[in-house]
Amino acid sequence: SVYENQISASIYVAQRIAAIITHKQSLGQHAVLGLATGNTPILVYKELVRLHREEGLSFQNVITFNLDEYFPMQSTDANSYVTFMHTHLFNHIDIPSKNIHIPNGMLPIDGIAGFCDTYEQRIASLGGLDLQLLGIGLTGHIGFNEPGSTFESTTRLVTLNSLTREVAVDDFNGLENVPTHAITMGVSTIAQAKEILLLAWSQKKASIIQQALQNPISAEVPATYLQQLSNVEFVLDKEAASLL
Ligand code: GLP
Repeated sequence: SVYENQISASIYVAQRIAAIITHKQSLGQHAVLGLATGNTPILVYKELVRLHREEGLSFQNVITFNLDEYFPMQSTDANSYVTFMHTHLFNHIDIPSKNIHIPNGMLPIDGIAGFCDTYEQRIASLGGLDLQLLGIGLTGHIGFNEPGSTFESTTRLVTLNSLTREVAVDDFNGLENVPTHAITMGVSTIAQAKEILLLAWSQKKASIIQQALQNPISAEVPATYLQQLSNVEFVLDKEAASLL
């Protein structure tokens, strides 16, 4: 779907999320949400906070799994996705802290594989993700599944693409400070979600959105993998949709 602007699109996405949460509440079940970071979902989280404060939306039954985290990364670092998620969402809602899962950027190298297995198993044991939110990177990455990622990939340690690291330079005050690696959910982890919403705003994303939707499916643009799934919706503003 294409919206006039980022605000109206973000309100739509927040309402979709709220509907899943309240539906699951009425069944006495958990809502299992896959969440994303970056600039793109910020207004979605802002609207969810507003729905909590002003309309009584409760997150007591919500369990979240974030897509990714830089590696290595201290959770208290201003650039960690832990900090991002608490700043934009978790600090302002009533989600139990035990329900929050974010890949751990502080693990010893030999602890990563076991952590990633546990992450996958925990999602599976809850019956999978009810909804996965995605942004898209300029390389076509979803999560940090950079070009070369296979459709079968699962949660793992990855090397960041040089373009991805350049895009992050301003946040980190110089390329030498941008992490070289990340832990990310895999393409197959994402693909198994019951619903997927990929969000993109602005002219900057127009070309990669065109490629994601119209290029042949290939590892060169990992977002093309979404073409073969039936449960995916691209939520775009007019600028991001301008080349379609
Ligand atoms: C990062 C994140 C992705 C995100 C992408 C786009 O690389 N790991 O999950 O989709 O950036 O970021 P932005 O929304 O700031 O354009």
